[in-house]
Amino acid sequence: MDRQMVQLITSANELTAILENISSIGLVPTMGNLHKGHLSLIKKSISENKNTIISIFVNPKQFSPNEDFTEYPRTLEQDLSKIKNTSKGKNVYVFSPKSIEEVYPPNFSTTLRVPSFENKLCAISRPNHFEGVCTVIYRLFTLIKPNQAYFGQKDFQQLCIIKAMSKDLFPKIKIIGVPIYRDSNGLALSSRNKYLSINEKKDALHLFKTLKNMAEQMKMCWPNIKKLSQLTTDAKNLPIATNIRWDYLSIIDANTLEQVRDTSTQVIIAGSLYVNKIRLIDNILINKES
Ligand code: PAF
Repeated sequence: MDRQMVQLITSANELTAILENISSIGLVPTMGNLHKGHLSLIKKSISENKNTIISIFVNPKQFSPNEDFTEYPRTLEQDLSKIKNTSKGKNVYVFSPKSIEEVYPPNFSTTLRVPSFENKLCAISRPNHFEGVCTVIYRLFTLIKPNQAYFGQKDFQQLCIIKAMSKDLFPKIKIIGVPIYRDSNGLALSSRNKYLSINEKKDALHLFKTLKNMAEQMKMCWPNIKKLSQLTTDAKNLPIATNIRWDYLSIIDANTLEQVRDTSTQVIIAGSLYVNKIRLIDNILINKES
């Protein structure tokens, strides 16, 4: 690794020392195993900030005991080389803590929630997930104090929660949502796509195809709210392959994640689909005028 271009930081103390000498920071929080979606966030941060810090930390607090925390792919060397190829001589730092304690000091017991955006969508099947996300972002923002932070719009509920938490606790940090990066066939990139076989990847396309069809049909029925809910019911009732099943499919207000109202200006069609045991999410954001 060329240390002049990409500097690896593994402790909170090292991070603090470096932060004394740099300003204008874009932060890209990740759990590593970087794909083109992450790289699009990194490129955006590099183009908009003098310094970019990419955190690579598989956050135990956002996994429930039955989830894949221990199996989650840890691929630091490959990640560093992808970052190096993307950074093109710009000031890029990678914060990859050498232990969990670098992020959560011993006996750290605070957790954070934004209840108004929970109890729906992904939080139903992952009840403590967003508490873990919110808490780790709180720690990263506290340690790094970035000017801007970048998150993918694929995790739309996560983005809403982080925006809300940040507005209350870190009003100076600008939260930037970056559009979903898709394969040429439309499949949204996700670290969990790695778990899918070729056939499962084909089945997974049902998610994006459904959202796309719904988006087409929505143009004809919005703002008729009754028709929107019929659209969702019809899409859910379409016959599907035996190894896939819906976790949820909803058309909701993109700002509140509540029911669409006459006053809604942006809606999101959000879906989560199980392909065998792998749970995938995707969404399409629609502006009223479009
Ligand atoms: O989206 C992710 O990869 C994670 O939830 C995040 C934001 C890095 C927090 O651990």
